[in-house]
Amino acid sequence: MVKNPSHQDLDSPTYMATLKKFKPFKLFEPSLGILGFLFVTVCIIFGFIYLDYRNVVTGGVFRFSNGIERLKWLKFGGSSEVYSRKRVDFLSVDGDGCDVFEGDWLWDEKYPLYESKDCRFLDEGFRCSENGRPDFLFTKWRWQPKDCNLPRFNGTRMLESMRNKRIVFVGDSIGRNQWESLLCMMSSSITSTNKNNNDSIYEVNGNPITKHKGFLVFKFRDYNCTLEYYRAPFLVLQSRPPPDSPSKIRTTLKLDQMDWTSAKWQDADVLIFNTGHWWNNEKTIRGGCYFQQGAKVNMEMKVETAYKKALETVIDWIDKQVNKTKTQVFFRTYAPVHFRGGNWRAGGNCHLETLPNLGSSPQQPLSTWPQYHIFKDIISGGAKNSSNEGKKVMNILNTTMMSARRKDGHPSLYYLGPELSPSAAHRQDCSHWCLPGVPDAWNEILYGLILKQSAVSD
Ligand SMILES: *[C@@H]1O[C@H](CO)[C@@H](O)[C@H](O)[C@H]1NC(C)=O
Ligand SMILES: *[C@@H]1O[C@H](CO)[C@@H](O)[C@H](O)[C@H]1NC(C)=O
Ligand SMILES: *[C@@H]1O[C@H](CO)[C@@H](O)[C@H](O)[C@H]1NC(C)=O
Ligand SMILES: *[C@@H]1O[C@H](CO)[C@@H](O)[C@H](O)[C@H]1NC(C)=O
Ligand SMILES: *[C@@H]1O[C@H](CO)[C@@H](O)[C@H](O)[C@H]1NC(C)=O
Ligand SMILES: *[C@@H]1O[C@H](CO)[C@@H](O)[C@H](O)[C@H]1NC(C)=O
Repeated sequence: MVKNPSHQDLDSPTYMATLKKFKPFKLFEPSLGILGFLFVTVCIIFGFIYLDYRNVVTGGVFRFSNGIERLKWLKFGGSSEVYSRKRVDFLSVDGDGCDVFEGDWLWDEKYPLYESKDCRFLDEGFRCSENGRPDFLFTKWRWQPKDCNLPRFNGTRMLESMRNKRIVFVGDSIGRNQWESLLCMMSSSITSTNKNNNDSIYEVNGNPITKHKGFLVFKFRDYNCTLEYYRAPFLVLQSRPPPDSPSKIRTTLKLDQMDWTSAKWQDADVLIFNTGHWWNNEKTIRGGCYFQQGAKVNMEMKVETAYKKALETVIDWIDKQVNKTKTQVFFRTYAPVHFRGGNWRAGGNCHLETLPNLGSSPQQPLSTWPQYHIFKDIISGGAKNSSNEGKKVMNILNTTMMSARRKDGHPSLYYLGPELSPSAAHRQDCSHWCLPGVPDAWNEILYGLILKQSAVSD
């Protein structure tokens, strides 16, 4: 049986919790007289104000349309300055110095750019709406840089500029999240004319997209353009330990060697890296994965140190091995997680978040993302053994801060497919992103940067 939770189902925990707060008052007997009656009335009035407040804050389905009206009011009232300002086009010469990563999330009726049900390339885990997520506001936010306008994404234009070229994503499952987003964005221009034609976009080895762990290469036939994903969560090489190692070493990360797939993507035309989520004790040392340099396994090395060394290896490799006349290299910064009240194992949750943080200050202290800060140190040449400044070697997709405001963008309970979702409340996904959603905005920026550079080199 297909379990299709209604709006009421989702919100019932909150709603019930709120109702429970009123329960004690039911015990009041008429004998308490007018005083008691007045007290209860006042409580109920405040109760409704509270409910209404929650409704605005969470965008809850209780009087949902009302919530949308309020959002529109917010748009025209609260932040009208943000909307009405005149800005230069990022692609024009005047847009040259514009920091596209500084800006705001704005409500935009024209979004999303595609629907998940129309995109056959998405993993089940990212199809939040199809998995029963009842709110849809999370698909309606556009990223607006503060000082310029990004070009609106045009899949045909992207494909034309990528004719006979390869776009390659390398990294962890959040990189895959972004890759699938771009697949949907680019294919939405194709599918309208060639909707049911499986031959116009296909995986070159015939592999299915679901639960695939190695690499996947999708080709847009009419453009001879491929969009590829290589799974390499650490970017450096993970392999068997040297002979005669202690038995507690099950694998090692060779911090001075790139992942084995690097030969396959070294000469791509666009290369987009990401890493970060796997650089913790849980995914390394606790699982018997230690750090190796040369022939030596260093049992004492901390994860942060290893992460720094790995980043240096990647930057050095890009500097020396990638032909930057041919290849545009991007490195996307850490994508923040939004577990509230514990980490992903300890019942952390994000399922009540239906609105972004529309204020400009980040909700979490920046120190919550050591991975981001280590990266920043390395690319600004602040680390000890870093001969190059990463900034000169590659473009930074500095998406950490903009994504930090999108606590509403995660699958939360809706990642197990239409039949098994919602998941148990203590097992939520607050690290990947729903699609359509936040990674689309990363890709719109990527699109802008690619077009900008090709304009420069023409
Ligand atoms: C998208 O780009 C193509 C090719 O550059 C162009 O013909 C088309 O008009 C564009 N579509 C929109 C909606 O701008
Ligand atoms: C298709 O693109 C690849 C590179 O992505 C290139 O090597 C090949 O020559 C192209 N084929 C044609 C027919 O242009
Ligand atoms: C395309 O592939 C899907 C899934 O493999 C299949 O259900 C569908 O019938 C195919 N469509 C065509 C026109 O071959
Ligand atoms: C780098 O790429 C450019 C453009 O494709 C090419 O002309 C050049 O020969 C390449 N350089 C090397 C060293 O391969
Ligand atoms: C990313 O952007 C933030 C704020 O927008 C800025 O403080 C930071 O220096 C940038 N990081 C990098 C690596 O450019
Ligand atoms: C940095 O480390 C690499 C090996 O990880 C080494 O080959 C290189 O000489 C070092 N550079 C400096 C400036 O110490």
